[in-house]
Amino acid sequence: MQEKKDNEFNLILSKADIVEIISSYIELKPQGKNYFGVCPFHDDHSPSMSVSKDKQIYKCFVCGASGNAFKFVEDYLNIPFLEAVKVVSDKIGYNFKLKQSKEDIKNNKYYDVMELATLFYQNNLKTKDGKEAREYLKKRGITDEIIKDFSIGLAPNKNDSLYKLLTKKNIDKKTLSELGLIGESDNVYDLFRNRIMFPLKSPKGRVNGFSGRIYNQEGKTKYINTRETVVFKKRENLYNFHLAAPAARREKSLIICEGFMDAIRIYSIGVKNVVATMGTALAKEQIELLKSLNVKIIIVMDNDNAGEMATVSIGRDLLDNGIDIGIVRLTGKKDPDEYILANGPNAFIDNIKNPMNYYEFMEKNLRKDKNLNNSVELTSYINDMIKLIIESKDPLFMEIEVNKLANEFNLDKSLLLSRINMDEPIKEIKAPTKEKPKEKVKKSTKFDKAFKSMLYYMMNDTNCMRMFLRRNLDLPQTRYGLVVDNLVYYFELTREMDFASYISFVEDYEDVSFFVKEIIENQKNEDFKEEDMKVFLDIVENTIKEKLILEKKKAMQNELDISMKKKLFEEIIELKRGMC
Ligand code: GTP
Ligand code: MN
Repeated sequence: MQEKKDNEFNLILSKADIVEIISSYIELKPQGKNYFGVCPFHDDHSPSMSVSKDKQIYKCFVCGASGNAFKFVEDYLNIPFLEAVKVVSDKIGYNFKLKQSKEDIKNNKYYDVMELATLFYQNNLKTKDGKEAREYLKKRGITDEIIKDFSIGLAPNKNDSLYKLLTKKNIDKKTLSELGLIGESDNVYDLFRNRIMFPLKSPKGRVNGFSGRIYNQEGKTKYINTRETVVFKKRENLYNFHLAAPAARREKSLIICEGFMDAIRIYSIGVKNVVATMGTALAKEQIELLKSLNVKIIIVMDNDNAGEMATVSIGRDLLDNGIDIGIVRLTGKKDPDEYILANGPNAFIDNIKNPMNYYEFMEKNLRKDKNLNNSVELTSYINDMIKLIIESKDPLFMEIEVNKLANEFNLDKSLLLSRINMDEPIKEIKAPTKEKPKEKVKKSTKFDKAFKSMLYYMMNDTNCMRMFLRRNLDLPQTRYGLVVDNLVYYFELTREMDFASYISFVEDYEDVSFFVKEIIENQKNEDFKEEDMKVFLDIVENTIKEKLILEKKKAMQNELDISMKKKLFEEIIELKRGMC
């Protein structure tokens, strides 16, 4: 059986073209025999990933990620191997039968029924009975495209139309009741009636529940949600997670909001990395789900007290789970949906780009609604702030906040500091460290940085390579000596610098490529301006000259012969004159 599967995998791989598969996720450019793209598996800015059409593999020169088409899809979408096989198969039109877990197989019939119900509701929204609901949606700015993307439908204003339809399709009453679609008293009746239906989906994207909203009735509960059922586990769901996950991995962040209407609105303005909690605190399972993405979570709750409180508690929960978070508080409108409709997509996107950190947010939050002229409230505020400062374990935050408190309320700074240190035995939170020793380090890294950037520019740009050669520098010994030689050698061979070709070239020189990786790391620039290259060259050249001057000064001191002394002196002057 395993062997048969292996054959099938090979068959799929032989039909698939890795260049086409990877191109469907990231941009690839041809270069010689290979294709190159920016690697999605580390924080990359240059095309470090090569894809070989011949060998049908990809390889990232910097982070070492490599493999075949299955492996790429598996890691890119963060899905299990067999699902990746399925994705690749679908792309090439091959019918791969995914073997499912026992639980999935057991639940398949339930999911199929939920799918049928979804279709039923969707169709019903399109009929003449759906006119009023369609008008309601239109008024709210829910376009046909959004209706389609989120499979929005309408439950008819009838007692048991879903029940009748599905029993006609031989689905038994028990199943429908287990799925929370029908109830029974004297008669069987549909649980969702006369509501706009929003399907809820599992993290894998299968409909497992519904939320139904009123649209033309007063005095009813706004939303009715599916209760816990065989397939609907509230604790394991986040609205839109299946669509948001790949986008979040790409963007390295995920927005989390309260209402699914907000998630829909945010998604529809092209910000696809968004999920909704559906108005509740986060369960352990939901936090795990978020954590599995390994991205920054940006919390954008409603603009009311409940939203403020939810932000405090969700923020805390996520931080405690080691998740990087950002916080956005919108103003003026009730929630993201209304904010976007009133202010437009760009205003919202600007907010998302500049989130607060948790402590900034908490400071604002603690101040709010307090009368700081009242000494009791002021004392409580200061005590809360001290707790927050201790908790932050961040010396910079402490320094800023202690100064602010001391100035604003005319308090003795050392008193505040002693309170902080009294409560907190950890040494780290002491007065700010002295600057002096840092400077030395800084100086050596300035040269280091310039040297690395210089080499990086040489790898990317022919002009920069020429500029380097023209300087004719007498380079000091650095750990990158081999790289310099190798680069110059490559340039002599090709007379042209191109990043992608150079890294495929250097791959054959293991001792060099190790250092090339170091150089490429953290380089973020995409265009290679000559004036920048000049700055790097100047720093390198000056450092070399400074060192020479120092050596010559020493020699001068030790030199007894007057004419030799004079010669050294002149050389020093000459070197100084030549410094940029
Ligand atoms: P709209 O009024 O349609 O814009 O909804 P909203 O997204 O602004 O919802 P709101 O902020 O009032 O609530 C946030 C979330 O809480 C919703 O997405 C629902 O999932 C949930 N919710 C709100 N009202 C109810 C309710 O009456 N019953 C239940 N079960 N859930 C609700
Ligand atoms: Mn709303």
